[in-house]
Amino acid sequence: MIDIHCHLLPGLDDGSDSLDHSLELAQAAVADGITHALMTPHHMNGRYVNHAPEVAQATADFQDALDAAQIPLVVFASQEVRINGELLTALDAGDILTTDPFGTYMLLEFPSEEVPAYSEKMIFDIQQRGIIPIIVHPERNQGFMDKPEQLYEFINRGALAQVTASSYVGVFGKKVQAFAQDIIDNGLAQFLASDAHYMENRDYVMGDAFAQLVREKGQKTADLFDKNAKAAINGDPIQRLVPQPIKKKRFFAKY
Ligand SMILES: [Fe+2]
Repeated sequence: MIDIHCHLLPGLDDGSDSLDHSLELAQAAVADGITHALMTPHHMNGRYVNHAPEVAQATADFQDALDAAQIPLVVFASQEVRINGELLTALDAGDILTTDPFGTYMLLEFPSEEVPAYSEKMIFDIQQRGIIPIIVHPERNQGFMDKPEQLYEFINRGALAQVTASSYVGVFGKKVQAFAQDIIDNGLAQFLASDAHYMENRDYVMGDAFAQLVREKGQKTADLFDKNAKAAINGDPIQRLVPQPIKKKRFFAKY
């Protein structure tokens, strides 16, 4: 498997605080069946700023450490970019790392409690620059939970979405899991990723998540998600399912 979202680089964000912990995480990734991973430290999220050249250097250093420790994981530099007022300036200054060498896709994070009012315009502006945003873990965002039609609109207009493996298997509780399932059931996501951190309760469950995806959606969908992760790293076209709006239950709030 290929993991397009994880926080394995040591000391850059809340992912891992030391090289030892990063290597431990990498070993867990390999044990879970991951061969290639995008290093996606937080960027511009109000707490962490990780400029493109620093992430590139840290990724190269980490690859050396992985090779020295004989851990068979290939790593690539990227970022998990928080939507923010300075994002377009950073993009135009070349300080945003995409998921691929051709500037095709970028990981875009929303604040967990809301979808800011300017999001629609900003996603449009990002797309105008030829970059397709991949919205990370929409299932963990309260704004999308309250208004799932907003996620549908973004996907329908060309954005992509990544569901986190641990959300899908239930690590963050039933509400998040139910929303993750609805997102996948309605063709609104094209990727599963680990979003691994060195934290309790954040074990690698990509193998379990893909097994669940096969059970619930069939091998074809699981293969599509699998291929899409590789395509995101290579800048190749992503295969989409036909997006459908999420229907809310009539008599009770579901999430
Ligand atoms: Fe993340």
